[in-house]
Amino acid sequence: MSSNAPKTGFSHEKIETNNFLMIVLILLVIAVGGLVEIVPLFFQKSTTEAVTGVKPLEALQLVGRDIYTREGCYNCHSQMIRPFRAETLRYGHYSVAGEFVYDHPFQWGSKRTGPDLHRVGGKYSDEWHRIHLNNPRDLVPESNMPAYTWLETSPADAASIGTHMTALRRVGVPYTDEQIAGAKDAVAGKTEMDAIVAYLQSLGLALK
Ligand code: HEC
Repeated sequence: MSSNAPKTGFSHEKIETNNFLMIVLILLVIAVGGLVEIVPLFFQKSTTEAVTGVKPLEALQLVGRDIYTREGCYNCHSQMIRPFRAETLRYGHYSVAGEFVYDHPFQWGSKRTGPDLHRVGGKYSDEWHRIHLNNPRDLVPESNMPAYTWLETSPADAASIGTHMTALRRVGVPYTDEQIAGAKDAVAGKTEMDAIVAYLQSLGLALK
């Protein structure tokens, strides 16, 4: 220890010259700081309770959501409108936490090669979405979005949707027994295109 360190009491030099102590204390500070920020969010109404009008996705919409994740739409599209004027003028009301309480996992995304989709529900007709997903350039000539031609011909997965809803119920999504029992019939005979369009049309309707 250097000679100018105080002889008695606490010396900061003890920490600065001891790698192990330094690491342990840094981890402690980060852990406490993190917990103080994160833990209250589990108990605040604004982050744990659904905004009025937000309902769990219906079976077909839920299948569509799985296709959305499978196809990686979130790699180009966010679902999170920030509370800035430029964003709210373009997309509508900014996103609030209570709109995502039934989302497992959420699709906020962070990359916007294409526009934010959080309030795209009701913006276009179902037919617009079909044409657009089959070939975006038919509607937006300069678009670099890929064409998802197989959605129209692939059957939507009706077999596993009931179990999926049961799993979501276990993590807090309030699906009723009737909804789960009727899920298979609601999806049977539909295509993946029907499902993803139903999902897109459901987005962001609570706070228009
Ligand atoms: C490579 C990036 C990319 C991927 C992946 C992608 N998109 Fe897009 N998307 C875009 C771009 C760019 C636009 C804007 C031009 C256009 O409308 O085609 C767009 C536009 C859209 C729009 C219209 C939004 C509006 O408000 O006008 C919708 C809806 C959409 N995409 C849905 C999807 C879905 C669903 C998927 C996944 C199946 C997907 N996109 C995958 C790039 C992408």
